[in-house]
Amino acid sequence: MNAEPVCIKDLEEIASRVMPSGMWDYYDSGANGQQTKAENESAFGHYRLHPRMLRDVSAISTETTVLGQRVKTPLGVSPCAMHRLAHDDGEAATSRAASRSGSIMILSTFSTVSLEDVIAQGSGRGTQYWMQLYVYRDRSVTESIVRRAERAGYKALVVTVDAPVLGRRLADARRKFGPPPHVQLANFFTPQRSTAGVYLDPDGEFSKTFGANLDRALTWTNGIDWLRSITSLPIVVKGVLTAEDTRLAIEHGCAGVMVSNHGGRQLDGTLATIDALPQVVEAAGDQIEVYMDGGVRRGTDIFKALALGARAVFVARPVLWGLVYKGEDGAYLALGLLQKELETAMMLAGAPSIADIDESYVYRPARRWV
Ligand code: FNR
Repeated sequence: MNAEPVCIKDLEEIASRVMPSGMWDYYDSGANGQQTKAENESAFGHYRLHPRMLRDVSAISTETTVLGQRVKTPLGVSPCAMHRLAHDDGEAATSRAASRSGSIMILSTFSTVSLEDVIAQGSGRGTQYWMQLYVYRDRSVTESIVRRAERAGYKALVVTVDAPVLGRRLADARRKFGPPPHVQLANFFTPQRSTAGVYLDPDGEFSKTFGANLDRALTWTNGIDWLRSITSLPIVVKGVLTAEDTRLAIEHGCAGVMVSNHGGRQLDGTLATIDALPQVVEAAGDQIEVYMDGGVRRGTDIFKALALGARAVFVARPVLWGLVYKGEDGAYLALGLLQKELETAMMLAGAPSIADIDESYVYRPARRWV
C-alpha cells in the first residue's frame, strides 16, 4: 500500500510488513492463546452508540483535566518498552509526537532513551509526562528511578502491578527474544552508566532479565504504601481489572487506577478492558480517577470508554506502529488519526465537549460479564 495511512489498521498493516519478524512478534504478541489480546479489540464492537441529533457541534473541545491538570485531549500514550525497536529515535521521537498532540505520555521503565532525555524533548509544551515503574527486588533501584523522575519533572508514577512475572508469549519464548545489542534499556544500562542492583541476562533474553529483577512478593502494603512513604508524586496503579482492587487502591491512597490487562500480554483469559471498566468505575465513585487501555484502535473506541467512565484513554501498539512507519511523524500521525476520529465521533453523536460524554451515549451489550 503506497497511499498515506488513513486509520490505525493501515499503520498496523504497514508495520507488520516492514518490521523484522522477531521484533514484530515482540510488539504484537499476547500471552498464550491470545484470547484476551483479541477480545480487547473485538469487545468494543459489543457496545453500540446512542447518538443525539440537532445539538450545536460547531465548536468541539476535547480539553479535560487529568490529576487536576488541564490537558488538550483525554488520549494518551501507554508505557511500552523499547521504542528503538521501532525506530532509531525511539522514545525521543514518541515524546516529540506526544507533546505536539498534547497527549499525556507514560514512559516505560524499559525505555531505550533515558527518562531525562525523553522528557527534555517535549516538556513545557503543555503536555504531561508520567513515569511507569516496576518495583525491583532491590528497592534502591526503584527509589533511584523515582528520584530521577521527580527531578526531571514527571507528574505521576504509574506502578504496573499485573506483571510479577512476564506473561508467556509463545513467539518470544520460541525465539528466546532479546533486543539487539544496540538497543539498550537506557534507564539502567548505557555505555556510560549501569545501575548497581540490576541483573542483565548474559544472553540478553528479555524475560530472564525481567524475571530476575522484579519483586514477586509485592503487595499493597510493602509496595504501594512504601512508595507513598518515599514520594509525594501521585500514584496510579496500572493493571487493575476488578472492583475489589479498585477499593484497595482507594484505601492505599492512590490517585488513579488504570484498567489494563497489559494489552493481553500477561494473564490470558481476563475480561477485555472495556468490559472490566464499568465495575471499576462504579467502585471508584468520585474518589479516584479511572483510566483505561487495551485494544483502542478507533475514535469511537475512545468515545465508548469515556462514556463508560474513563477519564483518559491510552494506546500503546498504535503509537509503535506509527513509529515504525515514520518515526516522530508516524507516531504523531497515529495520535492525530485517533484524535480526529474522536472529534468526528463527538460531532456525530452530538457531544461537543468531554463533559457531555456520559453513559447515556452507549448501549451496553446484553451479554454482561460482571
Ligand atoms: C507493553 N506494555 C507495557 N506496560 C507497562 O506497564 N510497562 C511496559 O514496559 C510495557 N511494555 C510493553 C511493550 C509492548 C511492546 C507492548 C505492546 C505493551 C503494556 C501497555 O502499556 C498497554 O497496557 C497495552 O499494550 C495497551 O494495549 P494496546 O493499546 O497495545 O492494545
